[in-house]
Amino acid sequence: MYRPNEIESILVSEEEIREKVKEMGRVLTEEYKDKNPLFLCVLKGSVTFFSDLIRAVECPLEIDFIRASSYGSGTVSGGKVNFTVGGHVHIEGRDVVVVEDILDTARTLYTVKNEMLRSEPASLKIVTLLDKPSRRVVKGFSADYTGFAIEDHFVVGYGLDYNERFRNLPYVGILKPEVYT
Ligand code: PRP
Repeated sequence: MYRPNEIESILVSEEEIREKVKEMGRVLTEEYKDKNPLFLCVLKGSVTFFSDLIRAVECPLEIDFIRASSYGSGTVSGGKVNFTVGGHVHIEGRDVVVVEDILDTARTLYTVKNEMLRSEPASLKIVTLLDKPSRRVVKGFSADYTGFAIEDHFVVGYGLDYNERFRNLPYVGILKPEVYT
């Protein structure tokens, strides 16, 4: 298994992710089977989870992509969210499912959700693979569906990066602190 030296330990294994994605897929299939929902991938971190999740949902759906980023090259959220929607993302009247890799301070999803709601979707729900509730800055903000609630470790892999590295690891790993301190 590809395990770079900078990874201290594996927090969520490939197998655990696979099982969780299947389970989330079943729940979403049940909820959206007659709705032709629009699944929105929040680039870049969500891309791996998104591509696995949509294949676990067994009903018609459409997909689109938005870009949001706040971290820049550090390990701590910059506090300002850059948010871009391609001109072709039409969500008015749609049942929208926003898919994220991690909910941390919640600044990103708070911004995304508010922007989306201005376009009047029929419904809007948030799915996140990981949640770090102890880091929340937007108090009271939560996802509708969460894969794993985790402690406050700096995690990479399965889409998540440090300085754009490690997104291709097939598991979620904890980065050695000396890498970023
Ligand atoms: C990460 C992650 C979420 C966000 C969560 O994105 O993918 O979008 O941070 O953090 P928050 O809850 O504190 O806002 P990042 O800004 O690193 O961009 P990326 O997805 O392109 O890696």
